[in-house]
Amino acid sequence: MTKVAIIGAGPCGLSALRSFEQAEKKGEKIPEIVCFDKQEDWGGLWNYSWRTGSDQYGDPVPNSMYRYLWSNGPKECLEFADYSFDEHFGKPIPSFPPREVLYDYILGRVKKGNLKDKVKFNTSVTNVSYNGKSFEISYRDKVNNKILKDIFDYVIVSTGHFSVPFIPEYPGMKSFPGRIMHSHDFRDAEEFRGKNVVVLGSSYSAEDVALQCHKYGAKSVTIGYRHNPMGFKWPDGMKEVFHLDKLEGNKAIFKDGHVQETDAVILCTGYLHHFPFLTEDLKLKTGNRLYPPKLYKGVVWQDNHKLMYLGMQDQFHTFNMFDCQAWFARDVIMGKIKVPNDSEIEKDINKWVSLEEKLENADQMIDFQTEYTKELHDLSDYPKIDFELIRKTFKEWEHHKVENIMTYRNKSFASPVTGSVGPKHHTDWEIAMDDSLKTFLDQPK
Ligand SMILES: Cc1cc2nc3c(=O)[nH]c(=O)nc-3n(C[C@H](O)[C@H](O)[C@H](O)COP(=O)(O)OP(=O)(O)OC[C@H]3O[C@@H](n4cnc5c(N)ncnc54)[C@H](O)[C@@H]3O)c2cc1C
Ligand SMILES: NC(=O)c1ccc[n+]([C@@H]2O[C@H](COP(=O)([O-])OP(=O)(O)OC[C@H]3O[C@@H](n4cnc5c(N)ncnc54)[C@H](OP(=O)(O)O)[C@@H]3O)[C@@H](O)[C@H]2O)c1
Repeated sequence: MTKVAIIGAGPCGLSALRSFEQAEKKGEKIPEIVCFDKQEDWGGLWNYSWRTGSDQYGDPVPNSMYRYLWSNGPKECLEFADYSFDEHFGKPIPSFPPREVLYDYILGRVKKGNLKDKVKFNTSVTNVSYNGKSFEISYRDKVNNKILKDIFDYVIVSTGHFSVPFIPEYPGMKSFPGRIMHSHDFRDAEEFRGKNVVVLGSSYSAEDVALQCHKYGAKSVTIGYRHNPMGFKWPDGMKEVFHLDKLEGNKAIFKDGHVQETDAVILCTGYLHHFPFLTEDLKLKTGNRLYPPKLYKGVVWQDNHKLMYLGMQDQFHTFNMFDCQAWFARDVIMGKIKVPNDSEIEKDINKWVSLEEKLENADQMIDFQTEYTKELHDLSDYPKIDFELIRKTFKEWEHHKVENIMTYRNKSFASPVTGSVGPKHHTDWEIAMDDSLKTFLDQPK
């Protein structure tokens, strides 16, 4: 029997498990599947952990989630085609849920089956090599501290790429008297109440961590961008300045001459695609971009078609794109989709990469990833979903953010699966301090 290893039980790994389960439900004979996750439970980043640094077994903590995180995109854009929000919660819910609500949703459909039996938790994959015929996987049972080995025909890498922080150094850091941390270790904005905070970066983490600090009472928040500012209309108490030059004592000195006294520096400087468990011939080497090279249809490793990667792209689309990728990978593994010859693969990858390299703004990036996801969607039996509505919603959302970064999370959108419109949340995001599932779902009648 064909044997498939899925490495990681985050949203991507769960999409892979679900895809095989759905094929089996249709009466198809599916391969034997073993999924590995080094955390104690499934859900990937969404399984919040208070831990930072190392876990109790000495492994680096992969989790980058923090308390009070609310979805930064409309939930309608990430909805599963085969499991709507309405089905999970039994009613329409607002468009920007907090982490616990999304976590509950992600797990909803997989909890209905027997999929958990297929996952080895607290198990780190430490080595994957290919011998010309099959893959040998070594893994560490962390609880019993044992190294074990197994042989597989296919490997699906779904280990995420927002777990290993990229940490630059600036002059003066060694003698800075306050706290320096990466967003990977950020857990709770309350820590910065009453403090002057410097945030470095100009992407989603910088935006959201800065807003969190402001929302939970930081005295001032200064964002230092390196190339392009985010350029939002920041509320009083927040500003965006050009690139940190150095720290001098407790002063942050920026290249535009701006000087800011600071108690903490939070590096929102992104993450590394880091696969220490893969041999060089199998290893994806890329930055955070919309079309990492060497992946046919963004999934199949160009040099070895028995190796698949899920979710390695920079992400506008998330959960339903992961599903389309997983359904595609499943069908390649089950022989329903034939991978073309090397020159066609090369041509296809080059087409997407060169399109990606020409993208200039957020709307074009949204179009690019929507086209990519639609193309994948057409290749499998992943259920129908309205990607044109998702495209439109993403663009409206982008424009809402430009209009007012403090209020975009109060807007409502229509579901691409059921058509129902998310009700307005009972409390505006800016003053909603309690992010529990219970409070969020407790909408007035
Ligand atoms: C702070 C933050 C906030 C985000 N917020 C949003 C949001 O609001 N909306 C949205 O759609 N997306 C958001 N994202 C994007 C996020 O990438 C996806 O939502 C999603 O978690 C990606 O799923 P994944 O399965 O690829 O990776 P992950 O969620 O990272 O899961 C990977 C899993 O692989 C396991 N693993 C890794 N290495 C090994 C190994 N060697 N052996 C065994 N197991 C291993 C890990 O333990 C983990 O469970 C956010 C990302 C971050 C960092
Ligand atoms: N739900 C939420 O609200 C939420 C919150 C946080 C994160 N997220 C998600 O988390 C994922 C990761 O986002 P991310 O922002 O961590 O990573 P990212 O999108 O890869 O961005 C990395 C940022 O780091 C900057 N940078 C790199 N080196 C730097 C340096 N030396 N000095 C200053 N800036 C530097 C980059 O700037 P340059 O452009 O100058 O290179 C870029 O702005 C995304 O998918 C995002 O959606 C979601």
